[in-house]
Amino acid sequence: MRYGHFDDSAREYVITTPHTPYPWINYLGSEQFFSLLSHQAGGYSFYRDAKLRRLTRYRYNNIPTDIGGRYLFVNDGGDVWTPSWLPVKADLDHFEARHGLGYSTITGERGGLRVQTTILVPLGETAEVQKVTFTNTSDAAKTFSAFSYVEFCLWNAEDDQTNYQRNLSIGEVEVEESTPSGGAAIYHRTEYRERRDHYAVYGVNVPTAGFDTDRDTFVGAYNTLAEAAVPRAGKAANSVASGWYPIGSHQIDVTLAPGESRDVVIVLGYVENPDDEKWADEAHQIINKERAHALLERFSTGGQADAAVEALQTYWTELLSSYSVTSGDEKLDRMVNIWNQYQCMVTFNMSRSASYFETGMGRGMGFRDSSQDLLGFVHLVPERARERIIDIASTQFPDGSAYHQYQPLTKRGNHNLGSGFNDDPMWLVGGVAAYIKETGDWGILDEPVPFDNEPGTEVPLFEHLSRSVDFVLTHLGPHGLPLIGRADWNDCLNLNCFSTTPGESFQTTGNKTGGVAESTFIGAQFVLYGKEYVALAEQRGATKEAEKAAAAVEAMQTTMLTDGWDGGWFLRAFDYYGNPIGTDAHDEGKIWIEPQGFAIMAGIGVESTDPSSPEWAASPAGKALTAVEDMLGTDHGMVLQYPAYTTYQVHMGEVSTYPPGYKENGGIFCHNNPWVIIAETVAGDGASAFDHYKRITPAYREEISDVHQLEPYAYAQMIAGKEAVRHGQAKNSWLTGTAAWNFVAVSQYLLGVRPDYDGLVVDPQLGPDVPEFTVRRVARGATYEITVRNSGTPGSRATLTVDGEPLEGRTVPYAPAGTTVRVEAIL
Ligand code: GLC
Ligand code: GLC
Repeated sequence: MRYGHFDDSAREYVITTPHTPYPWINYLGSEQFFSLLSHQAGGYSFYRDAKLRRLTRYRYNNIPTDIGGRYLFVNDGGDVWTPSWLPVKADLDHFEARHGLGYSTITGERGGLRVQTTILVPLGETAEVQKVTFTNTSDAAKTFSAFSYVEFCLWNAEDDQTNYQRNLSIGEVEVEESTPSGGAAIYHRTEYRERRDHYAVYGVNVPTAGFDTDRDTFVGAYNTLAEAAVPRAGKAANSVASGWYPIGSHQIDVTLAPGESRDVVIVLGYVENPDDEKWADEAHQIINKERAHALLERFSTGGQADAAVEALQTYWTELLSSYSVTSGDEKLDRMVNIWNQYQCMVTFNMSRSASYFETGMGRGMGFRDSSQDLLGFVHLVPERARERIIDIASTQFPDGSAYHQYQPLTKRGNHNLGSGFNDDPMWLVGGVAAYIKETGDWGILDEPVPFDNEPGTEVPLFEHLSRSVDFVLTHLGPHGLPLIGRADWNDCLNLNCFSTTPGESFQTTGNKTGGVAESTFIGAQFVLYGKEYVALAEQRGATKEAEKAAAAVEAMQTTMLTDGWDGGWFLRAFDYYGNPIGTDAHDEGKIWIEPQGFAIMAGIGVESTDPSSPEWAASPAGKALTAVEDMLGTDHGMVLQYPAYTTYQVHMGEVSTYPPGYKENGGIFCHNNPWVIIAETVAGDGASAFDHYKRITPAYREEISDVHQLEPYAYAQMIAGKEAVRHGQAKNSWLTGTAAWNFVAVSQYLLGVRPDYDGLVVDPQLGPDVPEFTVRRVARGATYEITVRNSGTPGSRATLTVDGEPLEGRTVPYAPAGTTVRVEAIL
């Protein structure tokens, strides 16, 4: 069952009912100011940091889930309703929410009045803009009032939700009943009188009939928003908040002839003033509104808002032009050309901070998460990827370990979490390698970067990568595999923790010391990214470094196939006592997905690339991939491990705290499915790879939206596994490494077009389902038009011609910027 449909030419998903199984959201903003927006107008806005600069309030765990947003109440002759359906929930004659790239349009119609609102964060602005169009669809004149509504957050979202003894006394606003641009504005200025240099402005471009800034007055004591008092009364109370709960609401009165429309523009902006420009009148503590006025002036007409939407569309057309496919499979095309790349931008911006499952208060930017997010983002805006790499590397410690997270506003490492996640160091190597392959910017390796943000400690970025490699090599366990520390990629495999205290953090509790717990995942990761390090070192002429690292990679590869191998697949780890995890000898947790995907992706155990051959079946890679499909495969994707743990395993940490089939305990953790998909292409099994891709990719799951439940245009972190009560149900959509990794899997391995250091590799592997396709790729300024004729025969590899000339191998040398190269691939 579906709740809407894709509109590919508009690059929108069209939700046709408010009654989706869960709020389906969109992200507005791509640089400084961000909003989360559900199809029912729920969500919130913040400037740069979802915890420290929250503009509007949102209550997680609310009843119903999604109350709190930017609402517009209509009072049409006593009939009170909201075009976004929530919060009033009056039946609508028509409802439609279109989520586009960086904007959404929500339309509701009732009683002959249609209200269409387009909401966006315009490029270059620190504001959310709403263009509201009222249309009288009846055949009689209409006079009605509309009441806009937002609830302000007192800036620090965490403090706002906890420190009521203070916060209920500090709320302050200023009201400006008429602005220079002919409308009205409300200023939320809590704490501006003391240490803050910023406020929020909530303005409208037309004269108003009243305002409210005090929530209890607007809503009425003991009411819910559905029963809000002012809209019901049809008359604003002109309340001025002092303490309690500051809000912003404007009353807009409208009269429309039959068929007539009227536009109104509403702006929620963030304004910062330098210290010496804080006040218009310091003696009377009147805030300086110049910047706010300029903002309101820029959005004082509907035409200006339309132009901002157009600019956003052009911006996205340009961003998306560097990779696109025409394949004849519309689901594949819409994921590759639109939605997967869009989600990569969102994960790059948000890391794991703010979604409908992440409160924006808990997690900042992750060292490992952001390094992986780069992989799917670097082709979109390479300069921002470069800046991010420097930020991440600046939180590394001199010994190569790293802060696990940092706060986006301050860019400083987060002390609560600290370090000790032993996979972190090598992700940096992966991120930098991807950046250089995309851009050819070798100069980044010479960029001076400090340790732990300490001025004076700067060394070339390359030295940071060397420390990453050294960290792994100086932290090996008895089998020669890397020590796991607090956890590797799997945050919940905490082998040095042994927690028996409720509420204790599994990730930061390390009460077992002197342990020898080892990770095959980090072993595989070291092989994959160690090879990249060798390539970087060679290019710099650091021959000794390169040789030393190459030998270490070689040794790790051998260890993975001896001590790291269980017979039918790769082991997952050795625990605190040195016993194996992920072995056929156990009843539960026999096989884990992570090392299978990552090791084969790194080429370990790949002895044949013809899946129909006996050599393939007998090779370690062939055996492991067969076991993965047999034991981990389901119609909804591959589960993380099997069988899931049914009881608490104190020596393994958080993983077994989850009921079987959820999250890391046998859930379909979508992030690591693409590792297997890539591994399958590396081992020549494109048909299985494409099949596995389709099982988790949201557009292919649209028809079962009632089972999947979350957005059919964004990947979710997890889909409940085969042992779960609700197998197939997704959770934690949007902020997941799944976005970047699936884009890598589909664009670089299935469709097979990937940048390497010295050319663009064209090596598609996706089985027989797509007999012919073209990819358009812009790399380093040149355009590659790649046409593929694909027999899908197992084991076949592409033969290339470039501008009509046969090419040896599958690496098309980079062409000069501005040129177009035609590539034909036949397999
Ligand atoms: C979450 C974390 C990520 C981790 C994964 C597996 O997605 O953000 O860092 O690797 O879970 O535990
Ligand atoms: C929990 C989650 C895991 C996440 C981690 C972040 O362990 O299960 O997915 O990565 O928290 O700290």
